Amino acid sequence: MLRGGPSYTGGVNRGPFLADVAVVGAGPVGAAIAWRCAQRGLRVVVHDPAPGSGASRVAAGMLAPVAEAYFGEHELTGLLTASAARWPGFAAELAEAAGMPFGHRTEGTLVVGLTADDLAEARRLWSYQQELGLPITMLRPSQLRDREPALAPRVRGGAVAPGDHQVDPRRLVTALRTAAERAGARWSPAAVGALGEVDARVTVVAAGCGAAALTGLPVRPVKGQVLRLRAPGRAAPGFRHVIRGYADGEPVYLVPRTDGEVVVGATVEERADTEVTAGAVLRLLRAAVDLVPELAEYDLVEAAAGLRPGTPDNAPILGPLPGRPGVLAATGHHRHGIVLTPLTADLITQLVVTGVADPLLAPFAPDRFTAGPRTQEKTWN
Ligand code: GLY
Repeated sequence: MLRGGPSYTGGVNRGPFLADVAVVGAGPVGAAIAWRCAQRGLRVVVHDPAPGSGASRVAAGMLAPVAEAYFGEHELTGLLTASAARWPGFAAELAEAAGMPFGHRTEGTLVVGLTADDLAEARRLWSYQQELGLPITMLRPSQLRDREPALAPRVRGGAVAPGDHQVDPRRLVTALRTAAERAGARWSPAAVGALGEVDARVTVVAAGCGAAALTGLPVRPVKGQVLRLRAPGRAAPGFRHVIRGYADGEPVYLVPRTDGEVVVGATVEERADTEVTAGAVLRLLRAAVDLVPELAEYDLVEAAAGLRPGTPDNAPILGPLPGRPGVLAATGHHRHGIVLTPLTADLITQLVVTGVADPLLAPFAPDRFTAGPRTQEKTWN
């Protein structure tokens, strides 16, 4: 049942509707939008038959605007940086609203190279990131090992990105749902097969890869295989920073949780299946143990694969769907769904409430993939 009160018909004189806002997809992005909209007094229904079973189920939860600032992705880097800056406040508010922790850790990230070749490759990227003014500082091997003695003596060098933090995505989804429900949002287990089935003034499609079938937007699955290890006796892992880098050419990241879990990821494959392959497990484990040898003694507790919602330019799709009044897209977050959750939720909620798009959204509008000149309109309803 929805909350009582007068029907809300919004600024476009359509309706009345069963809800003010329907969110399709209850991953972190959808759940956060639901929370923010419910906080604004809107009647919100979230549709998802399996909340949190998409990309966030396997995501490591790195909040990495610096370490994931890649060549040629300038606008995306700006969005990642803006969202990461909102994370501390978002985390504090969510912890209060949900009354539960979700593994937000702020020790920072070490980026390392195992061999001279690995280090040379990493240094090119660090120089680019420094040119952008991003906070990353190169370290000598002794400085690296002072910070993390668990690193292998073979590691040739590295850098620290102190502002690249982490959160546990599975616990984040639970916390966001709790906060959203406490604010009045309702969850519906009914799957949405077509947007016409939704009875709401505004529909937000936050369905990850599922957005392609619902909207026709160019969202494609990008497979990632991920392992979860556990320190013996559930002790905290022997390192505190997120560690990422290259080991004999193999990119890998290691994300330690206080409960003993270490996430080891991830492959990036242009495939749509979720099979776990022996070769991927072998490569991830070899790279992980090359960087942090003690991981060989940890339990291997999970090997899984998920599908990131990729887009043609690797950037998310945020804003009004062309030709579909009342429908907003919040999808295509690819490798960055967790870090982009606070900003996506705030900007989409602002759009729902005011009908005005924040200028930050302009490069990420859905109409960048449609033929003809961009509309550049700032209002949509
Ligand atoms: N953001 C890390 C990944 O997608 O593997």
